[in-house]
Amino acid sequence: MNRKLKVLFVSSELTPIVKVGGLGDVAGTLPKYLKNYVDIESVIPLYKSILTSKPETIPNSDVKINYIDIPEYFSSRDNIYGYQDDPIRFAAFCREIVDKICEGYFGEVDILHLNDSHTSFIPIMLKDRGIDNVKTILTIHNLGSAYQGRYSLDILDILKLNRTHITLEFDKADKEIDPLLQGILNADIVSTVSPTYAQEILTKEYGSGLNDFLELRKNELFGILNGIDYSIFSPEIDKTIYTNYNISNYKIGKLENKKKLIEELHINFNTDYPIYSFIARLDYQKGIDILISAMKTLKDKNIQFLLLGTGAKDFENELQEMNSQNNNIFAIIDFDPILANKIYASADALIIPSKYEPSGLTQMIAMKYGTLPIVRSTGGLKDSVFNMKTGFVFENYSALDLTDTLKEASAMYNTGQWDQMIHNAMSADFSWHKSSQKYLVLYNKLKKV
Ligand code: GLC
Repeated sequence: MNRKLKVLFVSSELTPIVKVGGLGDVAGTLPKYLKNYVDIESVIPLYKSILTSKPETIPNSDVKINYIDIPEYFSSRDNIYGYQDDPIRFAAFCREIVDKICEGYFGEVDILHLNDSHTSFIPIMLKDRGIDNVKTILTIHNLGSAYQGRYSLDILDILKLNRTHITLEFDKADKEIDPLLQGILNADIVSTVSPTYAQEILTKEYGSGLNDFLELRKNELFGILNGIDYSIFSPEIDKTIYTNYNISNYKIGKLENKKKLIEELHINFNTDYPIYSFIARLDYQKGIDILISAMKTLKDKNIQFLLLGTGAKDFENELQEMNSQNNNIFAIIDFDPILANKIYASADALIIPSKYEPSGLTQMIAMKYGTLPIVRSTGGLKDSVFNMKTGFVFENYSALDLTDTLKEASAMYNTGQWDQMIHNAMSADFSWHKSSQKYLVLYNKLKKV
């Protein structure tokens, strides 16, 4: 075949056009890198927030964006997610894409690169219509049960299938359909966003009820670590931080950022002591519960905690309360990417105590900004942070282990070893360049299926 492979990258988010989480970052970046090698276009729903702007391409690239316009489910709704009928909305998104493929709307498509449950019905629909020249890869960004898109059997009406399918027949037994499961069983290749998570999801502990099914697909299951976009995340060029810096002047650079941030936030932090940050959704996956316990134990030590995030109301309230009672704890209950960058540039460490973490992007950003990640050894965190070399890694999901690690890190703060670690972290390479090559290998495998 002389022409380039034609790939459609299908997702429910695409940063900077629509971003809710890390999925958006991946969808907004990876296709730009793949564009050098394959003929790739993106496909997302036409949401209300982009109705008027509708950028033709991913900004700063020539990757075309195709918008799927189903007003009833997308452009008439204020939010991206959060509706009771979300699985129905995205099933309709899948159907529309398959209809368009059948009509030849996208030209001759070789590969559909699907992402998460929102796109997971596509493989079974292609089978239903007897289309076998379009291959599918499903990338799982989060297997958690809340992200599988389960819904009552009513969802079958939207799919409008012509035949019975064995994978649906047994899924029906519990009176619910699990879109992600359908994707796992019907896609040609299944991938996830780190090698360790690809292993973990085969176990009961991390498999969210789907581990036995993933086991069936073990030979077609791959783990590729995400990357980050250094044209956005780099302290040398980031316009949202107070002072730019690089590996040779980070000490002055970070101190200036720290001072300005303390001033802007009107907080009583002391620049002689470390600032440990946390930037994430406030929910169990992210380990906020063990972090709160650890902060309670360490509240009299010379460690300052700066947190940014929104999420479960219980955690938000608890953090607000800790805020008012402790000078060394400051929690900002907000989703604010600009403030997040300022924190990456100012803090000494970023705590990521996740219960599970498919890839995680914040540890990679933190390293680039010379902020040492303190992470639990799971998923992509395990694959990207090396204990005592580029950050601190602890094994067990426990407040005790986290507390010990925070104490250990503090004892090392501002020593020669700490500086060496910052050096290692800032020079680590998590660019998409490497990871995109691994996706190309999978695309080429698909070509041969
Ligand atoms: C999800 C995962 C996160 C991953 C991101 C992008 O948000 O929780 O670990 O980095 O998807 O793949």
